[in-house]
Amino acid sequence: MNVSYEALLKEAIEARKNAYTPYSKFKVGAALLTVDGDIIRGCNIENAAYGPTNCAERTAFFKAISEGINEFSAIAIVGGKETEVNEFSDYAYPCGVCRQVMREFCNNDFEIIVGKSVSEYKVFKLSDLLPQGFGPENLL
Ligand code: THU
Repeated sequence: MNVSYEALLKEAIEARKNAYTPYSKFKVGAALLTVDGDIIRGCNIENAAYGPTNCAERTAFFKAISEGINEFSAIAIVGGKETEVNEFSDYAYPCGVCRQVMREFCNNDFEIIVGKSVSEYKVFKLSDLLPQGFGPENLL
């Protein structure tokens, strides 16, 4: 990885500030690292109809893909109640739908960093969090 975990977590914390969460009041921030070292931020965006809500991770992926960026090496994720700012009581693991979106665009070595702060975090490979997944190659 060409950026430190700490730096990527810091970006995720910044991204989280834009989360639109009037319903759950649970804010999530994500920082998606490209193979070129660029960082794309994402936050969760809720909706009065609930269903259209988009997770922070997918916001970051869809921003990137829509701009023609499609090679990624890692994502950092932080989340917690809106009262929490730089330190979070729990790790925010990506939901199943977001793991499946990662599976579409990333290889098994893609790193997922979940943080409670910039200095307290865990690192997983996508294959740890989505073992034996279904992906594009299954349709070849
Ligand atoms: N959320 C995320 O942004 N990422 C996840 O992986 C899990 C859940 C958001 C969606 C919703 O706005 C809020 O957290 C509560 O579910």
